[in-house]
Amino acid sequence: MNSSHFKELAQIGIALSREKDINKLFEIIVDEARSLTGADGGTLYLIDKRKMQLRFEILHNDTMKMRMGGTTGVEITLPPVPLFNTGQPNYANVSSYVALTGTIVNVPDLYEAEGFDFTGASMYDDRTGYRSQSMLVIPMKSHEDDVIGVLQLLNARDPKSNKVISFDPQSVDSIASLASQAAVALTNRQLFEELVEAKRRTERAFLDTVQRLAIVAAYKDKETALHVKRMSRYSAILAGGLCLSPAQADIVLHGSQMHDVGKIGIPDAILLKPAKLDAREWDIMKQHTTIGGHMLSGSPSELMQAGRTIALSHHERWDGSGYPKGLEKEDIPLLGRICAVADVFDAVTTRRPYREAYSTQEAYKFLREGRGKQFDPRVVDVFFARLDEIVAIQKPSIHNSLIHTSAWEVA
Ligand SMILES: [Fe+2]
Ligand SMILES: [Fe+2]
Repeated sequence: MNSSHFKELAQIGIALSREKDINKLFEIIVDEARSLTGADGGTLYLIDKRKMQLRFEILHNDTMKMRMGGTTGVEITLPPVPLFNTGQPNYANVSSYVALTGTIVNVPDLYEAEGFDFTGASMYDDRTGYRSQSMLVIPMKSHEDDVIGVLQLLNARDPKSNKVISFDPQSVDSIASLASQAAVALTNRQLFEELVEAKRRTERAFLDTVQRLAIVAAYKDKETALHVKRMSRYSAILAGGLCLSPAQADIVLHGSQMHDVGKIGIPDAILLKPAKLDAREWDIMKQHTTIGGHMLSGSPSELMQAGRTIALSHHERWDGSGYPKGLEKEDIPLLGRICAVADVFDAVTTRRPYREAYSTQEAYKFLREGRGKQFDPRVVDVFFARLDEIVAIQKPSIHNSLIHTSAWEVA
């Protein structure tokens, strides 16, 4: 390998490791291999381990003005190459042979070569007038020496005369090195994508668990199923309006769904009492905040931690008259101040067994009057600044005077 090849390879290696789009990665590999050898054509196959066959990913041929697969959007309709025929390894096909054995094959002229079946190429030549001649077929090996694909180059050309020549045995090393870099980049990319997908699945499963936790609380108290859904959306809107990042607003969206999980620990006689609570019952009811706090404590998850903060502080009031701690103003966590507005607005606009719902106008008045008393004035201001979005969420269910819905609708 000469030094310019070496430099080129190093640069390609960097480009390969940076490329995030797998189809572009395929193209870079074939383009670079062809430019290193002057090959007229190039094909990249990947091994489909499940089906035990070689699948065409890229098909390039300059003379035939052909560029298929990769990012071109042109589908390669050629059938995949089987690695086995009736249980026997398919050594007759050169690409399959290379995939199965991991060896490099360098053929000066297909028409004079022995041991391989090149009828596919000669049929192509007959049909098109092309003349397939020299071929270099190289396995793409991963870090673990697994062959993951095959790179096949066709018709090396002399850079001066442009005549088809054999592949220079010296360039074989460069191509083998390129192919292994490519294989590593490809496996990395595949592993990365699998990792991203696994992370996505875990996150989904986690959110699902969080929602089920909210459902547990809602299950006892049928009225809260839709309440949780609306209240969490209001909270996310308020979070966005307070310039929290989209990721933080998302945490508010999901974390606020757990605001009343502690209600699971409140006796039904109190939780479901169809009348106003007396002072003693009310004291017990208030404990849903600290019960929820206990239930959600000690989690390494940011979302669970936010849920805990909200469970503990959504009944605190700006003027210090709330519970459980009687915190004041900015001593109340912001998430709690946000959810307090969302929670109360939804609660008062919903009919309860022991009282009628406020009209929307009455609810607005209630929030305005509570600005700087019960509620953080900034949060109330954002509520009115974002009223359009709030109303859009409120509307569909405003006529549900008393909500008896499946708890599963929370999700
Ligand atoms: Fe609550
Ligand atoms: Fe609530």
